[in-house]
Amino acid sequence: MSANSSGSATYSGTLDGSNAKRGLWSSRLAFILAATGSAVGLGNIWKFPYVTGENGGGAFVLIYLVCIAVVGIPIMMAEVMIGRRGGHSPVNSLRLIAAREGLKPVWRMIGAVGVLAGFLILSFYSVIGGWAVSYVGTAASGQFAGQSAEAIGAIFSGLLSDPAALLLWHSVFLALVMVVVARGVRSGLERAVSILMPALFVLLLIVVGYAMTSGSFGRAAAFLFQPDFSKLTTSGILVALGHAFFTLSLGMAVMMAYGSYLPKNISIAKTSITVSVIDTGVALLAGLAIFLIVFANGLEPGAGPGLIFQTLPLAFGQMPMGSLFGTLFFVLLIFAAWTSGISLLEPIVEWLEEQKGMNRTVSTLGAGVVCWALGIVSILSLNLWADFAPLGFVPMLEDKTIFDLLDFFTANILLPLGGFLVAVFAGWVMSRQALENELSLSAPMFRLWYVTIRFITPVAVAAVFLYNLA
Ligand code: PFF
Repeated sequence: MSANSSGSATYSGTLDGSNAKRGLWSSRLAFILAATGSAVGLGNIWKFPYVTGENGGGAFVLIYLVCIAVVGIPIMMAEVMIGRRGGHSPVNSLRLIAAREGLKPVWRMIGAVGVLAGFLILSFYSVIGGWAVSYVGTAASGQFAGQSAEAIGAIFSGLLSDPAALLLWHSVFLALVMVVVARGVRSGLERAVSILMPALFVLLLIVVGYAMTSGSFGRAAAFLFQPDFSKLTTSGILVALGHAFFTLSLGMAVMMAYGSYLPKNISIAKTSITVSVIDTGVALLAGLAIFLIVFANGLEPGAGPGLIFQTLPLAFGQMPMGSLFGTLFFVLLIFAAWTSGISLLEPIVEWLEEQKGMNRTVSTLGAGVVCWALGIVSILSLNLWADFAPLGFVPMLEDKTIFDLLDFFTANILLPLGGFLVAVFAGWVMSRQALENELSLSAPMFRLWYVTIRFITPVAVAAVFLYNLA
C-alpha cells in the first residue's frame, strides 16, 4: 500500500516529516482501498438499515442520498485536498496551510474535533463490532438453523442482557483494532480489503437473491425507494445528514490524514466519487437485503439497533448452507468494522505521538484503554441502565440512553460540525489558486465544486442544525 514495503511508512507523519520521508500511496487503487476500508463498515450494514427503518424509509433514503451528493462528496474532496496540500498529519496540515495563508492556528480545532469524535465513536463502535464477533460463533454452531423470528430475537436479547458477554466481545474487537494500530502495519489489511469487500458484496447479493424468492420485493423496494414525506421528521433530516458524515468517515479528518499520502498526479475528485459510490452501493444493498427479510417475515422495520442481528440470521437459518453463509457473513462484517475501527483510533494515536511525544505502543494502549472503559458505559446502557435517559429533559432526546446519546452526539453534531469547519476552511480560507492547483478540475467542474463548498454545503449543514434547534 505504501511506498515503504513494511507498510509502516504510511503513518510515520511527524512534525518535520516531508512527503518524501513519509512515503506515498503506491497507486490510486491503494488510496481507494484504504479510504473504502474506513468508509465501509458497521455504518453501512448495521446503521443504515436501522436508521432507515426508524425514520420511515424512502423519504429518509432520498435525503441521505442528497446529503451524500451535496455535502458528503464535496467535503470528502476538501478533506483529501487539505491533507495532500498540507502533507502532514491533519492537525499540522491545517496549521501549516493556515500559516501559509497568514491565519491563526485556531484551525487546528478541526483536528481536535476529530480526536474527540474518534474516542467517542470507537467506544460504542467497538461494542457493536463485539456483537458481530459473538455472532460468528452463534452462526457457526448452527443456532440459527430453522429458527423462528421469536427464537432469533431471543438470541439477540439474550446477548444484550449479558453485560459480561458484551464486555468480552467488546474487548476482543478493540484488541484487534489496537494490535494493528500499535504495530503500524496496515499493508496486509488494505490488500485484504480488495478481496474481502467484494466478498461481502457478493454475500449480500446472495442474501438479496435468496430473500427475493420470498415475494416481498415489491414492499421492500417501495419502502426504500418510494419517498413518503409525511413520515420524515425534522430530526430524521438531521439523522440523514449525520449518517452521510458517519458512513463516509467525514468530519474527523480521517480522509485528510489519508489524503496526505496521495501522490500529486492522482485525481481527488475521481477517487472521492469512487469511494462514495462504493460506500453508498454497499449500504443500499444491505438495506434491500434487510427489508426483504423484514417484510417477508412480518417484522418491525423500526426495531432499532438490533435490526440486522434479528433479520439476517433468520434468512441464514432458512437458506441452504445457511450456517456457512452466516458465519462467513459475520466474519466479513467484523473485517469491515475492523478496518473502520483502525481509522477511528489512528488519528488519536497520531495526535498523542505528535502532541504528547508518546511512542506508538504507549499511545495506542492509552487511547485504547480509555475507549474500552468508555465502552462499558455503552454496554451497561443496553441492559442495567436501559431505562436511564440522562438528557430526558431535552426534547428529541427524551428516551435516549447513554449509548444512543453517544451515537447521536457524534454522528449528528460533532461530525457535521467538523465537516462544516472543513468546508469553511477550504471554501473561504484557502486561496482559490491553491484549490485549483490541488484539484486540477476542468473550469466548469471546479466552479461547481467551489460554489458547493463555499455556499451550498455550509448553508445546508447550518440550516439542518438551526431547523432542529427551532
Ligand atoms: N465510516 C465508518 C462506517 O460507516 O462504519 C465509521 C467511521 C469510521 C466513522 C471512521 C468515522 C470515521 F472517522
